[in-house]
Amino acid sequence: MAAEPIVLFDNGHHKCLMFDSLVSGEGVQSNQFLIVDGKHEALIDPGGDLTYTPLSVAASRYMNIRDMDYVFASHQDPDIIGAIDRWIVHTRAKIVTSRLWARFLPHLVSSYVTNQLSGSVYDRIVSVPDAGANVKFGDSYLQCLPAHFMHSVGNLQFYDPVSKILFSGDLGASLGGEDDHLPVKDFKKHIPSMIGFHRRYIASKTVCQLWANMVREMDVVAIVPQHGKRFEGPEMVNRFLDWVSGMDCGIDLMTQENYQCPVDYV
Ligand SMILES: [Fe+2]
Ligand SMILES: [Fe+2]
Repeated sequence: MAAEPIVLFDNGHHKCLMFDSLVSGEGVQSNQFLIVDGKHEALIDPGGDLTYTPLSVAASRYMNIRDMDYVFASHQDPDIIGAIDRWIVHTRAKIVTSRLWARFLPHLVSSYVTNQLSGSVYDRIVSVPDAGANVKFGDSYLQCLPAHFMHSVGNLQFYDPVSKILFSGDLGASLGGEDDHLPVKDFKKHIPSMIGFHRRYIASKTVCQLWANMVREMDVVAIVPQHGKRFEGPEMVNRFLDWVSGMDCGIDLMTQENYQCPVDYV
């Protein structure tokens, strides 16, 4: 399995690395991110047991993972933070996530694991309020942006002001495409691999519009989702903002038809 990361940014001191091919078998393709700033390291959306071992092996090439500063989790899903117990035991990292999920994540950690910790699991979780927050990281910081209902009710995205990359979690995700290690080249051709996911997983056009207004005020050179291809450069970033804020999705599409007692068996 190719575990070589894609270098999204590297100025010698600060690096953003993307792993796009660690998921094997039946898991959905997903991207995991390692941010390095000098001797400080953070992971973004590292995933579950499926990616823990290859990701920890790959990350060990750049650092002693025991000394990792943070694991950032955009939301609560298995492909985001399913292996929280392993990161908690094998590193000293704090887990940064929405306050909506901070109290539920300890359910993923067995008592066998908690018995090995000096404090409680909750002590290891940084609970971010709905308004978002900046988190000091190395010589810089990472910005936890509000991205609620896209798709999770307590949903964050992570902006790195050094690389100017916005790690957008499930927003902008594409599924079933090829060459996920490459950026989007033809936006129109890319839409079919995004549209089904966005219509069903993203809650409403209103939140996409509010989010896009916030992002247009920022200095973003790339939007990098957790599944599939990324959007690089001002033209692609703008095309994505226009598309996602102009599309009905989630509850916009719901009618009484969607709420009928089922007759079929699975
Ligand atoms: Fe998700
Ligand atoms: Fe996801």
